[in-house]
Amino acid sequence: MTMTTNMTARMLSTTRVVGLACRRFGWDAIAAAAAPLVRTRAYVDGRWLDAQDDFAVVDPGAAARTEIARVADCGPEEAKQAVDAAHQAFRRWKDVTAKERGAVLRKWAHLMEQHKEDLARIITFESGKPMKESLGEVSYSASFLDWFSEEARRVYGDVVPSPSKDRKILLLKQPVGVASFITPWNFPSAMITRKAGAALAAGCTVVVKPAEDTPLSALALAELSCQAGVPPGVFNVVPCSRERAPSVGRVLCTDPLVAKISFTGSTATGKVLLKMAADTVKKVSMELGGHAPFIVFDSADVDEAVRGAMASKFRNSGQTCVCSNRFLVQSSVYDAFLAKLGAAMDRELKLGHGGEPDTTQGPLINDRAADKVVGQVEDALSRGARLLRGGGRLGSSFVAPTLLADVSPDMLCMREETFGPLVPVVRFATEGEALAIANSSRTGLAGYFYSADMSQIWRVAEALEVGMVGVNEGLLSAAEGSFGGVKESGLGLEGSKYGVDEYLHVKYVCMGGLAG
Ligand code: SIN
Repeated sequence: MTMTTNMTARMLSTTRVVGLACRRFGWDAIAAAAAPLVRTRAYVDGRWLDAQDDFAVVDPGAAARTEIARVADCGPEEAKQAVDAAHQAFRRWKDVTAKERGAVLRKWAHLMEQHKEDLARIITFESGKPMKESLGEVSYSASFLDWFSEEARRVYGDVVPSPSKDRKILLLKQPVGVASFITPWNFPSAMITRKAGAALAAGCTVVVKPAEDTPLSALALAELSCQAGVPPGVFNVVPCSRERAPSVGRVLCTDPLVAKISFTGSTATGKVLLKMAADTVKKVSMELGGHAPFIVFDSADVDEAVRGAMASKFRNSGQTCVCSNRFLVQSSVYDAFLAKLGAAMDRELKLGHGGEPDTTQGPLINDRAADKVVGQVEDALSRGARLLRGGGRLGSSFVAPTLLADVSPDMLCMREETFGPLVPVVRFATEGEALAIANSSRTGLAGYFYSADMSQIWRVAEALEVGMVGVNEGLLSAAEGSFGGVKESGLGLEGSKYGVDEYLHVKYVCMGGLAG
């Protein structure tokens, strides 16, 4: 028996599969109902532009990965056109008052809420995300525009006490200029507004290259930006295929008119973009990969830990950078945690097309993503892990939510990010052991732990080498909080009062000759 058939035979999933064939609504109906938001051309300088070619957007949840749209396949020329337009527009936008910039962002956020259902359906059909989560993403996405609409007026400089009587020291904050965004498919709307809200609030202008899998959400945002009164050239979108992505990315990361790059995606791609940015010394923000530990200590409320694990692991079918990836459970609660988590998985998870109302787990974005998860499961089983739930594939890019016990740190799933619905659980004895495993990763984005011991809570929150910590909480993302990692998880922060700083530089003005 081959490894794969062996695994399929051992598949223990009780996960229900719903609606792979029938859905409450289909793409054609959505495209008709949401026609003004389903845009397929590039958006440059306030105009919708064709490119020489186009590329297919597919529904990853459909059995045959049905094509739902063809979108303009921009190349370096269109990217350059967009950068030039953004550069021209910057001259005017930076001088629009902060109050007016804020009002435009607020209107954009309102329009998103107004068109929430349509925007969510677009997200579901191009990314596979269950509708309930897509609705959540639209609100999350709008919350960044709303948050930064308020932050625009709080970009204060400083007047600093001077060491000399005849001088004044002023620190002015100024927008850096044109910002390029390269954004991912897993949050096709929110990862754009988290950047755009901050950039536009600061007075910067923007060119977005959305992920090739999910350009429709980006183009819908462009349509609403126009309706909200974002002036031409301030927000531009240049979609492109996987084949053209390197050449478009090169323009966005090397053109001398671009002052800032903000990227969300893998650490490997981030390193390539950082090298490109170096030649013209651009300001960069990198939100890169994670490998989050989820630690359950002896004193934890196990039911709460299970609730947190479900929320953190299975959000977007495990496809978020902050999803828990390595579960470390202390000996005395190990068996209880496994039993309760397995029961919660059976009870709460339903695999299916994202458009089906009961679905909680959609497909992974493509076959390669599913191959990676299945490969990690096979590796763990071959090294002695125990399969408690799932373990196999259900259709090309659907993977059964999988629970593995007796995992050890040498297994592949403990050494690389999964980006899928796999829960590998390691047993540990001491806090020191758990921290050593948790901090052994080269990345450090999010980390979670459950404990009722206040001293331990302080110790572990400080000791975890990550940029974000959930203490007795499995979901931490919010516009008000900062989002960013340490080590190879990236540079810079998004969201919070700090997000806008990524689009500003501080100019020191020394005013002399003031004696007398
Ligand atoms: C991400 O996966 O990159 C973003 C997740 C979040 O904002 O919560």
